[in-house]
Amino acid sequence: MRPIVIYGDDALHEVAHPVTTFDQSLQDLIEDMFETMDAAPGVGLAAPQIGVSLRVFVYDYPTDEGTPRRGVAINPELLISPIEVREPDAADEEGCLSFPGERYPLLRADRALLRARDERGAAFELECDGWFARIMQHEFDHLNGIIYVDRLEAPFDRAADKVMRRNGWGKPGSSWMPGVDDLDA
Ligand code: NI
Repeated sequence: MRPIVIYGDDALHEVAHPVTTFDQSLQDLIEDMFETMDAAPGVGLAAPQIGVSLRVFVYDYPTDEGTPRRGVAINPELLISPIEVREPDAADEEGCLSFPGERYPLLRADRALLRARDERGAAFELECDGWFARIMQHEFDHLNGIIYVDRLEAPFDRAADKVMRRNGWGKPGSSWMPGVDDLDA
């Protein structure tokens, strides 16, 4: 398990590097990421959130029928359907372990197609919709240095700024440890 860095940490705000070798250190990283996501608990976690600038994220979100969908996406591409134009509402509220304790509504595409490599380097595709598609968009953004709060529309962008100032976030140095610090996202 690793501490989760909070908004302001450099790794969160830069474009992460592609994975080039599928070696033991990658397997160790993935194991750490699953452990950290489970302890948080969260439905997704990207490597930059534990301070590692690599294009890797993990996810764990069952289907509506309860079938487990848990995996790792390495060097992913993401194709998305057009985002509907409407007012965001409570059903669109998203959260992030790197902006803990807050949720804000954000419009996302309803459908996404993930193309990525697994932990062995094998290519796979995954069709996603609904909340699962949202998770994919959220985690994919992390690999490009984008946190969902960067995408918020007024007045939610200002609300997030306020929280950031109040907590002293927005600069490097803040993190929290799942299972130790009493925070949730
Ligand atoms: Ni996040």
